[in-house]
Amino acid sequence: MCEHENQMRNTHLLTQRFKYVRPASVEEAVAALAARGENACILAGGTNLLVDMKLSSPAGSASSSRTPESQGRHPKDEHASASGSSSASGSSSASRTAELPGQHPVDDPMTIVDISRLPGLCGIEERRDGVHIGALTSIRTLARSELLWTKYTALAEAAAAFGSTQVAIMGTIGGNIANGSPASDTVPALLVFEAAATLVGPEGERTVSVGDLLEGPGKTRIRPGEILTSIRLPLPTAGTSSAFLKLSRVRADLAKVNVAVRIAREGDSVTSTRIEIGSVGPTIVRARNAENTIVGDALTEEIALNAGRAASEEITPIDDVRSTEAYRRKATFALVHDSVVSAWQRTTEEARPSRGSNGAERSVSPVGEQTEVDANEKAAISLTVNGVLHELEVLPNELLLNVLRERLELTGSKYGCGIGECGACTVWLNGEPVLGCLVLAVSADGGDVRTIEGEAQDGQLTALQQAFIDENAFQCGYCTPGMLMMSKKLLEEIDDPTEDEIRDYLKGNHCRCTGYASIVRAIHRTAEATKESSR
Ligand SMILES: Cc1cc2nc3c(=O)[nH]c(=O)nc-3n(C[C@H](O)[C@H](O)[C@H](O)COP(=O)(O)OP(=O)(O)OC[C@H]3O[C@@H](n4cnc5c(N)ncnc54)[C@H](O)[C@@H]3O)c2cc1C
Ligand code: FES
Ligand code: FES
Repeated sequence: MCEHENQMRNTHLLTQRFKYVRPASVEEAVAALAARGENACILAGGTNLLVDMKLSSPAGSASSSRTPESQGRHPKDEHASASGSSSASGSSSASRTAELPGQHPVDDPMTIVDISRLPGLCGIEERRDGVHIGALTSIRTLARSELLWTKYTALAEAAAAFGSTQVAIMGTIGGNIANGSPASDTVPALLVFEAAATLVGPEGERTVSVGDLLEGPGKTRIRPGEILTSIRLPLPTAGTSSAFLKLSRVRADLAKVNVAVRIAREGDSVTSTRIEIGSVGPTIVRARNAENTIVGDALTEEIALNAGRAASEEITPIDDVRSTEAYRRKATFALVHDSVVSAWQRTTEEARPSRGSNGAERSVSPVGEQTEVDANEKAAISLTVNGVLHELEVLPNELLLNVLRERLELTGSKYGCGIGECGACTVWLNGEPVLGCLVLAVSADGGDVRTIEGEAQDGQLTALQQAFIDENAFQCGYCTPGMLMMSKKLLEEIDDPTEDEIRDYLKGNHCRCTGYASIVRAIHRTAEATKESSR
């Protein structure tokens, strides 16, 4: 037993043992969840679940009881509570606030049901009854969808405002809803569009409004054994526009306050509106008084200010690590005003904001058959790392980063925060940058991994690596491998990025030494050189 409460927590290592099941179909996933009942937990992108597990107390430790401080919540979500309730947790465990593996007795370990490779749950599709989004669709895909930017702008803006590019690549829309955080970015936007969620469980399929799923901080009404499979956005009526705004401490952070607004206009009047605000209550708050101030007339500056004022009075924020109650009220006033004005202007403007590029959806390598690995059993996996095939045996709780560093001795990728916040561990998995500290090695089975060691060929640095040297884009160098792997992807996606695009893309990669200016210069220099050489 630990003498000090924090000794076994906050190690940011995944110390808990758990059984791992990777079903090959939704039916198998439902059966696996049903078989384990409350002892099972769904894993999608893992950006909430694995962080919560790392921050939770191992069973039997001094801190294993679920005090408000030990509920395995992500520090990013502490505020998420913004509810006035001291026991509020932005913790995962979707639904049912099931215990996390960390709080589970060692002799009866939890089961993690990995749905990340289930077929048919990714993608955005327009049909006659609306736009359907698979629950495993990544946040990044939402942020790059031309369809969403055009018809559901607030949702695209919410996805683009997400904490970090890697987290947006790994995190799913289903996980964002099921996590139950009042600070979720996509949920306010889904609510203004009156989105419906389809869930499949032991009793079959049901469809409910996303709003009906929300219960409180870290809690949803997703029933035990249910999987959220898709979300449907009704087609917007003509004259409808929307906007989303977020205020956070730094770009790569959860919201102090976020606001989504939808406005429908006929002639010169607002015929209907919906305003949803995040991080200012136990769950997303609908600002009905603000809505009432808007409907019926043309929107004027005075009406927009009144809406902001009304909204700031009908929320129930609290003081927490991210903000004070008073500041949240002021921010709500400003954000509601600004987003209402913006949504109204968009009903008239020819050019709606468009940043979509319909980037390819993360490749999901389908699973041939269900895999089951007991908590103390090792699974045989294969990983192709920098072109070399490795056959390995891993426990379910081994992380990709640890396998790369400790088993394959590829120590270029660094261990920084361990909870998704610094980007030092960034490697590519199947062509996308991911955070090695939040990927189960067993889940990456069969994957193609690229690390910094695979960049230079025959001792010859890449142009990007050379530019980092030429521009003095590092000092201690600890963040550099992650920066390089991320910058390489940036230049693959945008061949001539602006400074703002670079800073936004790298918002999840922290450097404590350089001040970033030299990193931006190095990326510009590489882009210029590539342009020159192709002339
Ligand atoms: C550094 C960092 C920055 C972040 N920034 C933001 C941000 O800016 N905005 C924001 O909103 N969030 C942010 N998050 C939180 C997180 O990334 C999102 O909530 C993400 O969408 C979760 O998706 P996931 O697939 O990773 O979920 P997971 O971690 O896999 O799952 C989360 C929870 O939902 C359950 N679950 C997942 N999928 C399903 C499903 N299909 N059916 C039923 N239950 C399911 C899981 O059991 C778990 O309880 C951040 C997280 C980190 C680590
Ligand atoms: S993000 Fe993985 S170590 Fe910091
Ligand atoms: S160079 Fe030291 S942390 Fe970036």
